Amino acid sequence: MHVRDAVHTKRAIREFSPTPLREDDMTAILEAGRRAHSAKNFQRWGFVVVQDRERLAALSTLGPWCGHVAGAAAAVALVTPDPHAEGASLSITWDLGGAAAQMMLVAWELGVGSCPATVYQQARARELLGYPSDMHCEVMLSFGYPADPEALTRPNRVGGRRPLDELIHHETWTEGR
Ligand SMILES: Cc1cc2nc3c(=O)[nH]c(=O)nc-3n(C[C@H](O)[C@H](O)[C@H](O)COP(=O)(O)O)c2cc1C
Repeated sequence: MHVRDAVHTKRAIREFSPTPLREDDMTAILEAGRRAHSAKNFQRWGFVVVQDRERLAALSTLGPWCGHVAGAAAAVALVTPDPHAEGASLSITWDLGGAAAQMMLVAWELGVGSCPATVYQQARARELLGYPSDMHCEVMLSFGYPADPEALTRPNRVGGRRPLDELIHHETWTEGR
């Protein structure tokens, strides 16, 4: 699959088959995160891979929209220095978004669905995942083979993204729309 095709066809998948992820698929996904670029190549991240069913169920309660984590074959918790700490650089979250996108796109190429889950309960997340108090997990990623394999080839939802002419500005924000 070409990068362009993966970018164009990837959808959020929230319902997963109970089949565990093949080890080589999991490794390829994590490699995609490892290879992500970052400001000054700081690579300020760690990825906690969770495959234990009970821990996945517990992670699925960390926010109102985390339910899909319970049925995932694996969750990858994206852990960084606390971006809310005084003086923390915005590039921490910029970098992490790139790493997450690479993981989800490579997953898609491999037939693995994924979806982010925003963590609201920070203290409980730290307790479940065991990272230090100066680190933070804003988002976890669910991964798994889709419950419905047709989800991988379904056409994009009409209106699912704003059209180019709504978001592109030529030369300046106010001219050339
Ligand atoms: C930063 C971020 C946080 C997200 N958090 C959640 C979440 O907590 N739960 C969820 O089900 N989806 C979450 N999503 C997934 C979005 O809802 C999804 O990417 C968007 O609706 C587009 O879906 P589509 O690619 O299938 O069109 C999140 C996405 C991003 C980028």
